[in-house]
Amino acid sequence: MTDLTSHAVDLDGSRSFRWIADGMAFGADYNPEQWPESVWAEDMELMRRAGVTNVSLAIFSWVLIEPSDGVFEWGWLDRMMDMLHEHGIGANLATPTAAPPMWLMRAHPEITTVDELGHRTAAGGRLSWSPSSATFRHYALRMVRELATRYRDHPALRLWHVSNEIGNENNVDYSPEAEAAWQAWLGKRYGGVAGVNQAWGTAFWGHTYGDLSEIVPPHHARTKHNPGLLLDWARFTSDSLLEHFIAEREVLREVTPDTPITTNFMILSEDGSEEYSGWAHEVDVLSNDHYTIGTDPLRHRELEFSADRSRGMAEGRPWLLMEHAANAVNWQQVNRAKEPGEMIRDSLSHIARGADGALFFQWRASTAGIEQWHSGMVPHSGGETRQFREVEALGAALKALAPAQGSVVEQAQVGMLVDEMSQWAIKASRLPTGLLKPLEMGRRIHKELGDRGISVDVVPSGAPLDAYRVIIVPTLYLAKDGVAEQLAQAVEAGAHVLVTFASGIVDETNRVIRGGYPGAFRDLLGMRAEEIRPLFEGETVALDDGTAASIWTELVEVGDADVLRRYAEGALAGQPALTRSVRGAGTATYLSYEPDGAGLEALVDELVELAGVTPVAAVDRGISVTRRVGENGSFLFLINHTQQDLTVDASGVDLITGEQHEAPAVVPAGRVVVLDERS
Ligand code: GLA
Repeated sequence: MTDLTSHAVDLDGSRSFRWIADGMAFGADYNPEQWPESVWAEDMELMRRAGVTNVSLAIFSWVLIEPSDGVFEWGWLDRMMDMLHEHGIGANLATPTAAPPMWLMRAHPEITTVDELGHRTAAGGRLSWSPSSATFRHYALRMVRELATRYRDHPALRLWHVSNEIGNENNVDYSPEAEAAWQAWLGKRYGGVAGVNQAWGTAFWGHTYGDLSEIVPPHHARTKHNPGLLLDWARFTSDSLLEHFIAEREVLREVTPDTPITTNFMILSEDGSEEYSGWAHEVDVLSNDHYTIGTDPLRHRELEFSADRSRGMAEGRPWLLMEHAANAVNWQQVNRAKEPGEMIRDSLSHIARGADGALFFQWRASTAGIEQWHSGMVPHSGGETRQFREVEALGAALKALAPAQGSVVEQAQVGMLVDEMSQWAIKASRLPTGLLKPLEMGRRIHKELGDRGISVDVVPSGAPLDAYRVIIVPTLYLAKDGVAEQLAQAVEAGAHVLVTFASGIVDETNRVIRGGYPGAFRDLLGMRAEEIRPLFEGETVALDDGTAASIWTELVEVGDADVLRRYAEGALAGQPALTRSVRGAGTATYLSYEPDGAGLEALVDELVELAGVTPVAAVDRGISVTRRVGENGSFLFLINHTQQDLTVDASGVDLITGEQHEAPAVVPAGRVVVLDERS
């Protein structure tokens, strides 16, 4: 068995666990139950070749473990756990609650979710259960306790993988049990019906409630529901799902206090139902599932944004990439195959941004079931394939990166505030424009900074801001209480803040802050916008620097801010468009429009210069660069996303190839170089 003691890691600040692997974790969801046991031996051999350290096991195995009510059969799982241990592979053992058995669904159809039209979810999918169902909770926790008790001392057990993507297919539920839980939740949050009426402004359209029992979930209606109600419904949904996770976690902690616990997040899904920034405090190690979208030409940039966001939620501590795809997925319109080399770049991009392991969905591509066309580490065509050779190369690279395990990404000079709550508030409202994409400005600015070799921490609001020279506030439509004050303090102390349009508009109840936009940040910015003037798709308005605005413009009035750019045509001609106030040692810039590419590049250049932000290393454009630092030294991750060789002004030994590089070091086209900067 591998020695884990030297890799102890403090995962949540108060509890300390051994890391789940001896070095970087590498592996996949493993579903051996889909295969005859004769295939298992071949799996072990292929896992050895690939250098697999961990597999996530039993995710959908409830019915195999408990084939009928209260009858538990452990044979195959016992054999598999033993086999993994014999081969030095750790188990991220799943509580199999993502897949309630057919016998349970039949005996208790009331455990399933109900959709907004009142239809009950039928058996045949997964995650069909309601987090508010007491009956489901009873059966689920019984299973969790049995499983934990069975394997509490098994040497293969490394990590608990609670359920699977909680909220993925059960993200909304309008069942009677959910309704009761919702009313209780509202009572607790607002102290009674009067508080709800006040918060949501229910005088509008005569929606005033006389009793909490009148507040039914937002079922299908001919108009959109109240924005305050919808925001609270999203909060309630997230809280209910989290409550289920905590219930499972508490059983696991009781039985196996020394085994770390996670549940796989889905950070970056724009219509996500989970407030992961809050959930992050409840897991021992943050794990995330990430899939690129084939049609997105900047998918590697989206990946970087998501990975930086995962690290931000983990408060900088190492996290785990629990799932990504070795090749194509099977749930997009056209499921693009990855280019040769792309999988390695993707996996190592997550590692470069703080992940201490890269796992896939799934080990072996299924032949049956709805995911039969989803890639696995082992394709249908087997181990003697281009794809599997790349898997082996990745495994070797991760093994070579063991010295970097436990290190953290160097403190960024730029912070960016991104909140799920703000995305939910946008979705819950009918805005001046339907073209506003909650994460668009954040991603665009993140990319611009990345192009310049500048590292960004993407953090939820409320995170400490003292370390940042620049703080980006992109489309933070809902400003949580206290954020404006925190930003004001950071600016006084010397930070340079950039607030973009559609920020600070509503408070935590999704009510517009009066007096002009961006309500929460007006004082800091020394300006106010009187009017929002959205543009049609394709419509642009020229600015006085020759660039153009699209989607959103505003009639801005400055107080003590300077005007940096003005609108140059139309109803706003001559009016301020980009402003900057000086406060203490810092500044606060307001961007009232969506800039074009050139406009954003110029703005980012100005800000970087103003704040004296420096790149991680001097790299050619096309290389993504980050640095991880830890007990074993300093590691410069260089990922060349282009088809030409590029250079970096740095030297050291490439951990992956063992090659010594002198400055300027070449990063070959499409390749990854990790320089050990000690050498
Ligand atoms: C999610 C799930 C997996 C699988 C993949 C397919 O991440 O957790 O079980 O369905 O999607 O991409």
